[in-house]
Amino acid sequence: MRILSCGSMFKLSRRMQLIYDHLLPGKPVWDFCCDHGYMGLNAYESGLFTEVHFVDQVPHIIERLEQRFQNEYFREDSACQAFFHPQPGGALELSIQGSVVIAGVGAHSILEIIRSLTEKGVLSADRLILGPQRDEEKLFVWLQNLPHFSYKSDSEILAIDERGRNRKLLIFDKIL
Ligand SMILES: C[S@@+](CC[C@H](N)C(=O)[O-])C[C@H]1O[C@@H](n2cnc3c(N)ncnc32)[C@H](O)[C@@H]1O
Repeated sequence: MRILSCGSMFKLSRRMQLIYDHLLPGKPVWDFCCDHGYMGLNAYESGLFTEVHFVDQVPHIIERLEQRFQNEYFREDSACQAFFHPQPGGALELSIQGSVVIAGVGAHSILEIIRSLTEKGVLSADRLILGPQRDEEKLFVWLQNLPHFSYKSDSEILAIDERGRNRKLLIFDKIL
């Protein structure tokens, strides 16, 4: 299903748009390693999701993003709530549901975040959308061998050309 961005203020890159198009409407969105936060801000603006969580390990990135959000994007009448987490993704202790995006970092970083969250039993995302900078196939295999990682093994791998570089997104759905 394709989600139309209504009046989104950022034109997302093709890679970010492909990620955005795979978010599950009506559920929370977790934007791990969010940096600029464009994906999560678009998700908030769309009004299609119940919550948007911004996670980045660099505190001033989250501080600036929250400030910007409060000044430019927060709407009192929005049905979507925004949360800001200035901490490493793997350190979260909250229950994580809905769509989880971890993109733009190395495959090892993604693996470590997922390892930590699954070990604690807090990761019960309906969909995981993973966009490592490289080593996508390796990440796919590592995850299949990760204890406590119980997602569908016939997951989708989407290829996207970004500025002449072939990149891939791994999409895992929860086993029902
Ligand atoms: C290149 S940006 C990625 C931005 C965006 N997600 C994308 O795909 O374009 C990487 C961000 O990940 C953050 N980061 C790296 N490792 C992290 C971790 N373990 N937990 C949370 N944030 C992390 C960095 O602080 C940085 O802001």
